[in-house]
Amino acid sequence: MKHTKVKDLLNSTTTLQEVNAKGWVRTFRNNQFIALNDGSTINNIQCVVDFENTPDETLKRITTGAAISVIGTLIESKGAGQKYEIQVNKLEILGDSDAEKFPIQPKNKPSLDFLRENAHLRVRTNMFGAIMRVRSVLSFAVHNYFQQKGFVYVNTPIITGSDAEGAGEMFKVTALPFDNTPRTEDGKVNYKEDFFEKETNLTVSGQLEGETYAMALGQIYTFGPTFRAENSNTSRHLAEFWMIEPEVAFNNLDDNMDLAEDFIQYVIKYALDNCQDDLKFLEGRLLDEEKSKPQAERSEMALLEKLNFVLENNFKRVSYTEAIDILRDSTPNKKKKFQYIINEWGADLQSEHERYLVEKHFKCPVILFDYPANIKAFYMRLNDNTEPGRETVRAMDILFPGIGEIVGGSEREERYDVLIEKMKALEIDEEELSWYLDTRRFGSATHAGFGLGFERLVLFVTGMTNIRDVIPFPRTPGNAEF
Ligand code: 4AD
Ligand code: MG
Repeated sequence: MKHTKVKDLLNSTTTLQEVNAKGWVRTFRNNQFIALNDGSTINNIQCVVDFENTPDETLKRITTGAAISVIGTLIESKGAGQKYEIQVNKLEILGDSDAEKFPIQPKNKPSLDFLRENAHLRVRTNMFGAIMRVRSVLSFAVHNYFQQKGFVYVNTPIITGSDAEGAGEMFKVTALPFDNTPRTEDGKVNYKEDFFEKETNLTVSGQLEGETYAMALGQIYTFGPTFRAENSNTSRHLAEFWMIEPEVAFNNLDDNMDLAEDFIQYVIKYALDNCQDDLKFLEGRLLDEEKSKPQAERSEMALLEKLNFVLENNFKRVSYTEAIDILRDSTPNKKKKFQYIINEWGADLQSEHERYLVEKHFKCPVILFDYPANIKAFYMRLNDNTEPGRETVRAMDILFPGIGEIVGGSEREERYDVLIEKMKALEIDEEELSWYLDTRRFGSATHAGFGLGFERLVLFVTGMTNIRDVIPFPRTPGNAEF
């Protein structure tokens, strides 16, 4: 007999048929009621054991975490909380789980910290099952969105010689030995003797390669792992995260904002439509977590309300210059409550400022654009008509409540001469990026794109607060377990 997924059993339209279910025991009550979960849904199916006719030996082995197979009759349940249950006729223990040793015991309410240390088992909890199903559905929605619009999915390299963001936060890739490292005459590491015969690193962004493809295929997107060796031990940063980077030929910054907004609203709507049970559960979890917080720190909206709010309201578009004026006049700035006080135009915005704008001032997602040129990457398009000393670039960041920056993007500098000037000023090796400059040498045109940090999106949609809890096996400073 083939087994049926719990999700399908619970959605069944007929009863009284014989069914087989397989899964892991969540709880076993009164020597009679097994809550069985197989990961297909957050909901368990109740399996009622005929304990009088089941050997004690078997009953003892029905413990939290054990894998079992039951064959029985699907009947309407008399108990509250579930529509159907299985009247068990035959029960088989597939894999025991020692009740003394299995770390994930529902009674103990394991902390998120404890669960992180047991990332290989935490997915057996309702919370992590729900998060990872939502994450999966969101990935699918990302592909759906771009494929429906005719974007081409491009796999850009993980190992690369370039530093797309120019921030120098890269993990080196080398096959050279640490002792007896080959050196050049002036004592530097001789990468000519390395595997690739040059210096390489893990990619911080697929954008530069993506641009070359957009300048042939028109509209492309990437969706892949990205690596940053920035030592930010925060609840928003991972050393290995997934990024989605669309790039579109002939789009300007306004088109880019429209695309980003439409895309984010689409994937959130997709999750709302396809993850109802999981999101309802996560909403309850968040309410529970917030009970222990002072009133002022609690969210104003429950999870589903917040997600719907983002769908129903346009993102507020605000220039960097306007944002600086708002921040300079804000109460926390005047009262010196910000760690970094905003005095003048040109200051880089810290997450405290971004969160003030989104959470306190505008109370909705915000797109900040036209940033000072010298705090942004080299490839962003210089605005025409900017005052000398106050040059701005066609950059945009999307800021989300509770998250801060979720998207970074720009219209690209399509003018060869201007780009070369900028690279010279920043001492970026033209030789090394000669292939990138070819997009500007041959058939250059306006184009734009952005990067969305996938885990920050999953954080927002699931209402979780630490980025380590929305990726199966997080990599952060000091942590690469599993
Ligand atoms: O703003 P960033 O650095 O932009 C780029 O990499 C551009 N090349 C994107 C483009 O225009 N194609 O990163 C984009 C987004 C951020 O807004 C953030 O959501 C996410 O990537 N991100 C991180 N997420 C988790 N952990 C980190 N360490 C992250 N760094 C960036
Ligand atoms: Mg950024």
